[in-house]
Amino acid sequence: MCGIVGYVGGQRALDVVLEGLRRLEYRGYDSAGVAIVHQGELATEKKAGKLANLTEAVSGHTVADGIAAGSTGIGHTRWATHGAPNDRNAHPHLSEDRAIAVIHNGIIENFAQLRTELEAAGVEFASDTDTECAAHLLARAYAEVPADTTSRLAEAMRRVARRLEGAFTLLAVHRDLPDVVVGARRNSPLVAGRGQGENFLASDVSAFIEHTREAVELGQDQVVEITPDAITVTTFAGAAAEGRDYHVDWDASAAEKGGYDHFMLKEIAEQPQAVADTLRGRLTEHGEILLDEMRLSDEDLRDIDKVFIIACGTAYHAGMIAKYAIEHWTRVPCEVELASEFRYRDPVLDRSTLVIAISQSGETMDTLMALRHAKEQKARVLAICNTNGTTIPRESDAVLYTRAGPEVAVASTKAFLTQLAAVYLVGLYLAQVRGIKYADEVSAVVEQLQRMPEAIAEVLKTMEPVRELARDLAKSGQVLFLGRHVGYPVALEGALKLKELAYMHAEGFAAGELKHGPIALIDQGTPVVAVVPSPHGRESLHGKVVSNIQEVRARGARTIIIAEEGDEDVVPYADHLIRVPRTPTLLAPLVTTVPLQVLACEIATARGHDVDQPRNLAKSVTVE
Ligand code: F6R
Repeated sequence: MCGIVGYVGGQRALDVVLEGLRRLEYRGYDSAGVAIVHQGELATEKKAGKLANLTEAVSGHTVADGIAAGSTGIGHTRWATHGAPNDRNAHPHLSEDRAIAVIHNGIIENFAQLRTELEAAGVEFASDTDTECAAHLLARAYAEVPADTTSRLAEAMRRVARRLEGAFTLLAVHRDLPDVVVGARRNSPLVAGRGQGENFLASDVSAFIEHTREAVELGQDQVVEITPDAITVTTFAGAAAEGRDYHVDWDASAAEKGGYDHFMLKEIAEQPQAVADTLRGRLTEHGEILLDEMRLSDEDLRDIDKVFIIACGTAYHAGMIAKYAIEHWTRVPCEVELASEFRYRDPVLDRSTLVIAISQSGETMDTLMALRHAKEQKARVLAICNTNGTTIPRESDAVLYTRAGPEVAVASTKAFLTQLAAVYLVGLYLAQVRGIKYADEVSAVVEQLQRMPEAIAEVLKTMEPVRELARDLAKSGQVLFLGRHVGYPVALEGALKLKELAYMHAEGFAAGELKHGPIALIDQGTPVVAVVPSPHGRESLHGKVVSNIQEVRARGARTIIIAEEGDEDVVPYADHLIRVPRTPTLLAPLVTTVPLQVLACEIATARGHDVDQPRNLAKSVTVE
């Protein structure tokens, strides 16, 4: 939530910062702003609404204005927490003497107390934000640091950071320091980019990827100062610290639309490749699983007597599917829990519990807090994550990276499918090391898993009728989704996609629950999407879902059936039939989810919504 960028170097800072904000806009789009240092002046501009409003506002500036000429600057794109999303509350926020500009991601929890203290000292606030406290505190701290102190702004930032509670990434510039940007990080993302004669700070690498692919991972409770030639890291206490250098293995083109109208369409289309990349090198030709980078020994895994999966939103749905697979393949009890609920109910964990934290961004605060709780209870934590070097994998005992590449659209698609691929790998690996499944059974599933990218590509080739159907459904008041077994989380995911993109009432149900209440929602013409399990899997499951479809149809529902090729039983009950290739039951979500993503994307487009940046949402939820 909130995207932040900082730049020092030889280029026009405004261009670099605006381009960085364009790439970070998925993190929040309530307002945007910049502050540029030039010849002892600090020029700022900020506007409510999307980045386009800011871009328009700065476009009139000439090179004579500092804002157009400076080569040091910071920029922010906001997801509002404290204060309405208007111009006044947009970042940057300035100190009273207008010498310091600050941008912030996160929530300063003791802001009320700090504000009271500052107001008592005579400070007049210009906004309703928690961030503004940091700007005033920083100005005061800067004044107290002796003028001849090296890295004076960094020292002032350390003093301020020690006073703040909560989660924050702060960036600051001072009008007297033409080549310095200072940042502080606690429980909120910040990464540095190492260039030639220029350096960068940002919420994630996509902001500077077109300038450098050399990144520096910063730790918790660290302050960083960038100048054109150096990145200097210290702890909040002032001790020297080091970031971890790493190379980003994708380039700027991966975060561009590449000819698609929306990132979401591109990301849906990338799914076969993303799943293939996630499996690559992790399956041997003998049908075994190789997961060396897991950093948990086989002995550790043999000791596991319980698995907990923690995640939010779409990642939680991946966790629900993982439960079916892990319990079936390993016979180890597996629970799935919303990360935001986990630590508040005092779950029973110990050294023999494996906690799997699933997160695309690696920064979701609810998941991070649940993970920390698990670690406090001595459980072992494995992260399944898409974003290299982020907090969740850093704080876990082991990590399995999904290789979806950057996911820019706010609604998760390719990350979800790669999370599924990853949890299947983990489940099969656990089965392999624990010897619960016989080796030949593991290799049979491995072989089927390897064929899944092709199966996903097959589904994508047949989506035109789904698009047509979507245009037709765009005027509906609600859409219901039904599924059983692994089809149930798929139904939940289909409903979530529709809610977040099309702003329609959509609900997913376990089909067996219908008669216990939800069937009352069915009226003449109510669209009901049913995810039908394979007739080749457990016979009873298939038959039961077909009966559920008959029940809703008898009450007037318009049925949209997702069923395997060759499943003729569903034909008489389908108003619309969407075919997917035949797959083993547990792997089916890799194909059955795809039409639901396309459906939601197309319905939202037909309703005139911005599918990449749905209202009220942000890609990375870095506050609880
Ligand atoms: C929905 C969606 C969200 C995320 C959730 C977790 O399309 O994207 O529900 O899945 O916010 O995010 P990560 O995976 O980054 O922890």
